[in-house]
Amino acid sequence: MIIEGVVRSMISRKKYAKTAKTLPKGFETPNDFFNYVFNDKDIIWMGQNTNHLHDESGIKEAMLGSIKKGDYCKYPPPEGFPELKDLIMEDLGLTHGFDILITAGGTESLYLCANDILEPENNTITCDPGYLIIDNFASRFGNHVKSVPIYNEECNYKLTPDLVRENMDKKTKLISLVDPLNPLGSSYTKEEIKDFADIAEDNNVYLLHDVTYRDFARDHHLVAEYCPERTITIYSFSKIYGMAGLRLGAVLGTPDIINSIRTILINDLGTNIIAQKGAIAAVNSKYEWLDKVKKTTQNNQKIIKKAVDEVEGTFIPVYPSDGNMLAIDMYDAGINPRDVADHLLDRKIFTREGSYTSKHFGHRYLRVSYSIPTEDVKYFAESFLEVMEELKDSK
Ligand SMILES: Cc1ncc(COP(=O)(O)O)c(C=O)c1O
Repeated sequence: MIIEGVVRSMISRKKYAKTAKTLPKGFETPNDFFNYVFNDKDIIWMGQNTNHLHDESGIKEAMLGSIKKGDYCKYPPPEGFPELKDLIMEDLGLTHGFDILITAGGTESLYLCANDILEPENNTITCDPGYLIIDNFASRFGNHVKSVPIYNEECNYKLTPDLVRENMDKKTKLISLVDPLNPLGSSYTKEEIKDFADIAEDNNVYLLHDVTYRDFARDHHLVAEYCPERTITIYSFSKIYGMAGLRLGAVLGTPDIINSIRTILINDLGTNIIAQKGAIAAVNSKYEWLDKVKKTTQNNQKIIKKAVDEVEGTFIPVYPSDGNMLAIDMYDAGINPRDVADHLLDRKIFTREGSYTSKHFGHRYLRVSYSIPTEDVKYFAESFLEVMEELKDSK
């Protein structure tokens, strides 16, 4: 007993910036909730920006082939199969003067980036709404995280170069650009990207360019092209490739940056072999399925817009979204997004209330992702109208 007591008093909870997650009704832990939605095969998955539009693109077959060969008895090359590394670099067009590490997802890449770039005295700039785990990681390794409010029309719902200039100080070392932005789907023009490159060069700061949703965008520009020595690019297989459960991604930068990251690696025995074999097939086949996935996603977005337009007091702040998700603002309708998420879940539709991606504006919007079959989006649209009507009546 005494020993237990001593151990308990030595290990305390860490006080990093927390994400503003709230639990759906009836669940005690996030894990219980995710286990519930995962195991119910009828749930329509609009809550995690995953992609459910892949059919026979050879990805599954490549993984099954690897399993049949028993590849998984061995460890993979620790930094990833060279074939996969080359394919990702070619996919981004970052072949000369760049290096890459395969990771267990964009999440691990973000962590490595924060760990590598930030010293305890350094500040980071992120935005609200945004992808809050970045704030969390940055607060573990650096000093202050300045989360700039961007939920307004004046800045077009994105962290603009002007806002970055206004919010920088002498200690700023890292600027996070999630592009397109989760949860709003805003993205950057070439001019803005060039402007960010200038800011980085003039002020000796680094740009974290998270391009997880890049392939859903109508147009996209890499800051690494303009400012390679100050940019870290974060890549994920979870979204356009439809491989979220396989946990695979990458981090790219100049050889200097990547050599530095090599010294702080977590997975020094490498990343899942089967996932990597699937990923090789996924990048190789990309141009056979990309158009179809994008078109379906963009068309689904129109169905949601039509439904939102029918409900007074609601609107989509960024339309069209350049991601596979958008936010539905319902503040003026006087309806709480949390209630909408709960009611939709009763109808087996999993969405996310805004507090998951915003500390200050989460009470205003519901985030829905729509790279799912069109008939499911139609069911969402009908259900959304019904739920909004029910909630208005119950006020
Ligand atoms: C901006 C952004 N980066 C990274 C991730 C996580 O990527 P991964 O599944 O590759 O860890 C997400 C997931 O939603 C995201 O929205």
